[in-house]
Amino acid sequence: MPKPLLKWVGGKRQLVETIKSYLPHNHGRYFEPFVGGGALFFTLNKQGCHINDLNAELINVYRVVKSNPKELINSLQKHSNTAEYYYKIRGLDRSPKFIKMSNIDKASRFIFLNKTSFNGLYRVNKQGQHNVSFGGYINPKILDANNILECSVLLKRTKITQGDFEQLKSEILEGDFVYLDPPYVPLSKTSSFTSYNPGGFHLADQERLVEFCDYLDKKGVYFILSNSASVEVNELYHKYIIQEVYASRSVNCKGDGRGKIKELLIMNYDPKIVNNKLVVVGPMRLDISVDDRYIPSSLEMHLKILASCCSNPDAPIGIH
Ligand SMILES: C[S@@+](CC[C@H](N)C(=O)[O-])C[C@H]1O[C@@H](n2cnc3c(N)ncnc32)[C@H](O)[C@@H]1O
Repeated sequence: MPKPLLKWVGGKRQLVETIKSYLPHNHGRYFEPFVGGGALFFTLNKQGCHINDLNAELINVYRVVKSNPKELINSLQKHSNTAEYYYKIRGLDRSPKFIKMSNIDKASRFIFLNKTSFNGLYRVNKQGQHNVSFGGYINPKILDANNILECSVLLKRTKITQGDFEQLKSEILEGDFVYLDPPYVPLSKTSSFTSYNPGGFHLADQERLVEFCDYLDKKGVYFILSNSASVEVNELYHKYIIQEVYASRSVNCKGDGRGKIKELLIMNYDPKIVNNKLVVVGPMRLDISVDDRYIPSSLEMHLKILASCCSNPDAPIGIH
C-alpha cells in the first residue's frame, strides 16, 4: 500500500478513517483538486483518479515519481542532513540557475527540504523562495525507495494537473466523487497557516469554492469538503450537510499548538441514504420532507436510489 510521500500542513492522515466512513460506496472517478500531501488519495489507492494542486513544485514531485522513480531514488541518495547542506540546497531557488535544474533534481530538492525542514513545513515568501529553517532531526527518512516505487504505480494510473481548482470543472461528470481540502478559513487572525502558495487563499477564493460546490451538486456529483469549524464556513455551506469531526493538529510555527481541533466535513448527500443503509421496518409509506439542506439535485439523487430499492424486492430497505 502506498503511503503519502510528503509531510503536509493540513494533511488529513488523522482524519482518513473518519472521511472514509462518509464516502459513497459507489461512484465514478475520484477527484482531488487540492491534493497537497494526498493522505486520502494514497490511502484509497484507486484506479483512474485525477489529482490537482496549485503548487507547481509539489505537482512536479508527483509527476517525477510517476515517470522517473528510479532516477529520483538515485538523486535522493546524495543528500545529507546537516544545517550547512540544508541552507545550500534551500538557497538554490535564489539563483538564476534554478530554472535550469532538471525536474528530477527539483523534485529531489523538494522532498529533501520536506523531510529535513522544521516541522516539514513548506512555506515561501512573496518571491516564491522557500524560507523554512533547518529542522535538525536525528535520522529523518529522506529516502523511502519502496514507497516511491509503490506511489509510482498508483500515479501511473492517475491524471495529474497543476493549477487552480476551477480548471477541473469540465472534467467532473455526474456520479463522480470529489474530495475538496482547501486552505482553511482561519479561526482567528493569527492562528492560521495558509501560505502554501505566494498568493494565499482568501475569502473571495472561499466564495468561489462554494460556487464550485453548487455547480458540482447541480451536476449530480458527490462531494465532501473539509474546512475549519468557523462561523463563516457554517454560513457559506448552510444548505449542505455539515458534520463536526475532531483531529489532532499542530498549527502554529512553534509546534506547541497541538491538541484536538474541531473541523467540519461538508457533504451534498446523506451517506446513510446513498449507501442503502437506511433500514426501517413497518407499513410502506414514503414521507419526504424537503428542508433547506437538500437542494433539488441532491433530493433527486436520493429519490433515484430509493426508487431502485423499492423496485427490488430483495433490497435491504424498508421505508415508512
Ligand atoms: C489543506 S492542503 C491539502 C492537504 C491534503 N488534503 C493532505 O492530506 O495533505 C490545501 C492545498 O491546497 C492547495 N491550493 C491552494 N490554493 C489552491 C487553488 N486555488 N487551487 C488548487 N489548489 C490550491 C495548496 O497548495 C495545498 O496543497
